[in-house]
Amino acid sequence: MAEQPLADVIVLFGGTGDLAQKMLFPSLYSLDADGFLADRFAIIATARAEMSREAFVAEVKKSVGARADLDAKVWARFEQRLNYVGADATTPEGMAELKVALGEARISIFYLALSPSIYGRVCGALAQAGLATPKTRIVLEKPIGRDLESSKVINGEVAEVFPEDSIFRIDHYLGKETVQNLLALRFANTLFEPLWNNLTIDHVQITVAETEGVGDRWPYYDEYGALRDMVQNHMLQLLCLVAMEPPSDMEPDSVRDEKVKVLRSLRPVTRADVQTVSVRGQYAAGMSGGASAGGYEAERGQPTDTETFVALRVDIDNWRWAGVPFFLRTGKRLPERRTQIAIQFKPVPHSIFDGAAKADLAANRLVIDLQPDEDIELLLMNKAPGLAERGMRLQSLPLSLSLAKAYSGPNARRRIAYERLILDVIQNNRTLFVRRDEVERAWEWIDGVAEAWRESGMAPKPYAAGSWGPAGAFALIERSDRAWYD
Ligand code: BG6
Repeated sequence: MAEQPLADVIVLFGGTGDLAQKMLFPSLYSLDADGFLADRFAIIATARAEMSREAFVAEVKKSVGARADLDAKVWARFEQRLNYVGADATTPEGMAELKVALGEARISIFYLALSPSIYGRVCGALAQAGLATPKTRIVLEKPIGRDLESSKVINGEVAEVFPEDSIFRIDHYLGKETVQNLLALRFANTLFEPLWNNLTIDHVQITVAETEGVGDRWPYYDEYGALRDMVQNHMLQLLCLVAMEPPSDMEPDSVRDEKVKVLRSLRPVTRADVQTVSVRGQYAAGMSGGASAGGYEAERGQPTDTETFVALRVDIDNWRWAGVPFFLRTGKRLPERRTQIAIQFKPVPHSIFDGAAKADLAANRLVIDLQPDEDIELLLMNKAPGLAERGMRLQSLPLSLSLAKAYSGPNARRRIAYERLILDVIQNNRTLFVRRDEVERAWEWIDGVAEAWRESGMAPKPYAAGSWGPAGAFALIERSDRAWYD
């Protein structure tokens, strides 16, 4: 990729909000600590609240300190970069104040850590203030809409002001180390690619399990539910990276073209099959982390039919994946935090072993753990050492690529996914960002699922907090004689 001009200022709209404080400032600090920010790089936060620069800097220091050990020298440098503008970003007056703080025109990043419902107005105000120029990059957080129609409206409003190649739609999962490692695993080794198809792979499982409940995020969550909050974006992105054809290079559109092709091949879920290929759940009271935990409706304060758990069987109708189901499950208040992709290979076509060894045979499995540990394990059959009564015993053993064990030193630090992504925006690299047609294709498929749920009156089934979801989630995978990998 040709060298790109580096941005020299980032403006964080919603600069006092949770995302900025918990993720964005700590990420920027780490980039500074690692020497990725040029001396002139400035950080301007803006929000409606009036606040002095000193008070703002103190708040940022607290947030960054909660994530990282502050180094006095780095902090002194970082602090100099910070500025705060109290302004309403949807009005020309607000933008005028920001413009003063920005000073002379340079390559600016406008990061909208705001409700997507006002993206259009903020972009309009940026344009009016003359701040939308060919040197502007705009970063959008999810959710871009609640369905295809509303996402088109938001994307359309932003497109009136900014061309697609200056828009960076964030899916923070793409910034996770192991997600990028999936690209390395697939395309930097000759080993897997010839096996990566329906001749050798039996099925794929993608699990994103969280122990946390929805808590006080319910006003947002209740409108979206697990399908729109997690599957539309993070889980479909993981699925695309597993399923896509090898791109010709790492150019943004080469990778994104391949992901869109996968999304176009997803078999639509219809009213006729929705009960067999999907499960909706909602956590009820139970246990979490050894303590009793309330149900979602108790947190919400009233009955609601929002799902906090989804399991899906997804079929990809193309040559590579015909007949290889992808099983997806995600939920809140599950027994453990685990984000994992398991590629289950087919059993050997014929066993030359007999007796006990025949029964020991298990098919190979490639397990990619994203969270909490970053690990890749290939389960291989092995002869168990020692003598057996007749012949030998076999045992499945992992060939393990633990990132924590393989790397030590500064690169061993667990990075916040946003570090990678912010650096990419500074460097103008869109490979790990989601293109408009990609978001819209994903919504189109998700809308089909939501519509089928609605038409068939499928309400979420309760599951006890601390369990792996409703019983139907087990039936979903067992129907095809397979089981969740736990
Ligand atoms: C967010 C969702 O996008 O991702 C949250 O809105 C979810 O509901 C979070 O908890 C999970 O992210 P991570 O990085 O903690 O797996």
